Amino acid sequence: RAGWPGLIEAYRDRIAVPEGARVVTLQEGNTPLVPAHHLSELTGCEVHLKVEGANPTGSFKDRGMTVAITHALAAGSKAVICASTGNTSASAAAYAARAGLTSAVLVPQGKIAMGKLAQAVVHGARILQVQGNFDDCLELARKTAAQHPVTLVNSVNKVRLEGQKTAAFEICDVLGRAPDVHCLPVGNAGNITAYWKGYQEYAADGVVPATPRMFGFQAAGAAPLVHGEPVADPETVATAIRVGSPASWQGAVAAKAESDGLFAAVGDDEILAAYRLLASREGVFVEPASASSVAGLLATAADGRLPAGSRVVCTVTGHGLKDPDTALSGMLEVEPLPVDPNAVATALELT
Ligand code: F0G
Repeated sequence: RAGWPGLIEAYRDRIAVPEGARVVTLQEGNTPLVPAHHLSELTGCEVHLKVEGANPTGSFKDRGMTVAITHALAAGSKAVICASTGNTSASAAAYAARAGLTSAVLVPQGKIAMGKLAQAVVHGARILQVQGNFDDCLELARKTAAQHPVTLVNSVNKVRLEGQKTAAFEICDVLGRAPDVHCLPVGNAGNITAYWKGYQEYAADGVVPATPRMFGFQAAGAAPLVHGEPVADPETVATAIRVGSPASWQGAVAAKAESDGLFAAVGDDEILAAYRLLASREGVFVEPASASSVAGLLATAADGRLPAGSRVVCTVTGHGLKDPDTALSGMLEVEPLPVDPNAVATALELT
């Protein structure tokens, strides 16, 4: 859309911000809803990808952060803090920089993708690597914010979800209705909670006639919602969703129950297969966590839980460039070529 002002302005009537607040925006939102031809063929469904890597910092977190930082600034806060598997910290760092606020980020040591760390560094965040997992980081961030003059901008801060719900609005605005099924990766469970809120609001106001079924997918080694209990030592290649005790547990359970949805686990091998398929067949490069929505789409299409002919949206939550190490892992060292056209032709087997 031409002249897109960012999602707070675009959905002014649906997002509460304090009277007279300066809106802190990087013109996030309005991301592409891309028809996925290959996935549609594979599943017998009409599949679309909501490409959230197209947001300013490369993930859906910007939707929540524009609202959270706008509120923090209006409240006179001087500093914000968050725990993160990487994307929330990148987004918080960028929006805080834009607002002139200090940001501090708590990240699990050695378990965040390199691109995300680079973002936090370059935006000037105070980066604290913690000898623990995301759940430990979140507990530390909550305690710090409770006792000190610093605003918590994790999704336990409810205004984050007000921003994130706009992705559901955008999808309905493009499709002219809600999809039949919405597939999402689930980590701390804020996003599935936010989407469900967005779909419900549009349906309640008669903008769309119905809401979709919400399908939430977790990595098999980090699937507390699937098991119905927290996981003490979550592990997965999809570091963004390496979460053992989701903060928005209740919201996710409600979204699933009220929408006649489901939770399911997908293995790291399935996640990586979907990751490669998205890049090689659809031309969409996402980070591993994002591919879990597509891994789940394929699994539920195969076992019949996803009805053939459904109109499906899969949110792909973050850009593939966030995690170059996963993309390059397993690449063999290749011999460099001499500057010789014959060598190029031979290497490409054109002769
Ligand atoms: N996909 C990506 C790329 C993420 O970064 C996250 C969460 C999710 C999916 C799951 O969303 O937590 O709302 O269920 N990342 C958080 C972070 C935990 O710190 O950046 P969720």
